[in-house]
Amino acid sequence: MPADAFVQRLNEQIAYEFAASQQYVAIAVHYDGETLPQLAAFFYAQAVEERNHAMMMVQYLLDAGSHPTIPAVAAPETAFDDVVAPVALALDQERRVSDQIGALAATARDAGDYASEQFMQWFIKEQIEEVASMSALLTVVERSKDVPMEVEQYLARERATGGAADPTAPMAAGGAL
Ligand SMILES: [Fe+2]
Ligand SMILES: [Fe+2]
Repeated sequence: MPADAFVQRLNEQIAYEFAASQQYVAIAVHYDGETLPQLAAFFYAQAVEERNHAMMMVQYLLDAGSHPTIPAVAAPETAFDDVVAPVALALDQERRVSDQIGALAATARDAGDYASEQFMQWFIKEQIEEVASMSALLTVVERSKDVPMEVEQYLARERATGGAADPTAPMAAGGAL
């Protein structure tokens, strides 16, 4: 059985991951409304990833015989001043999640719950990638804020080259979308 302190924190994290998913839907819809389809598509895809993170955590608790809680979700930010603001918000969110993931690993280790600590390793790696890609996007959006079509072209190129499935990813409850 996972440590009680870890289970409690992981359930809190499930809520943060679903909230992140909702936030990214809100950002995607904002960009869709501005007719910036590449930025919209990027954030629609990020929303699915965050949903899958939550469902991986749900699956872990199911497998471990612990009780996953499906939470209410905090309302996302939906109004943005300019093309940069949503990406800046997203980078803040990813940095906060990195801290949360680190704290989860520490909680597991402190409790001598090494299986849960190991479960968190994939998320640690994932956060490094997500912070890096969001930082890069923020740089591009800040540089091109008066010419959003340049951001669209950057994303069209990036999205054409990346995005292979990750065979090391934990199982998501119900299967990853
Ligand atoms: Fe996540
Ligand atoms: Fe993320």
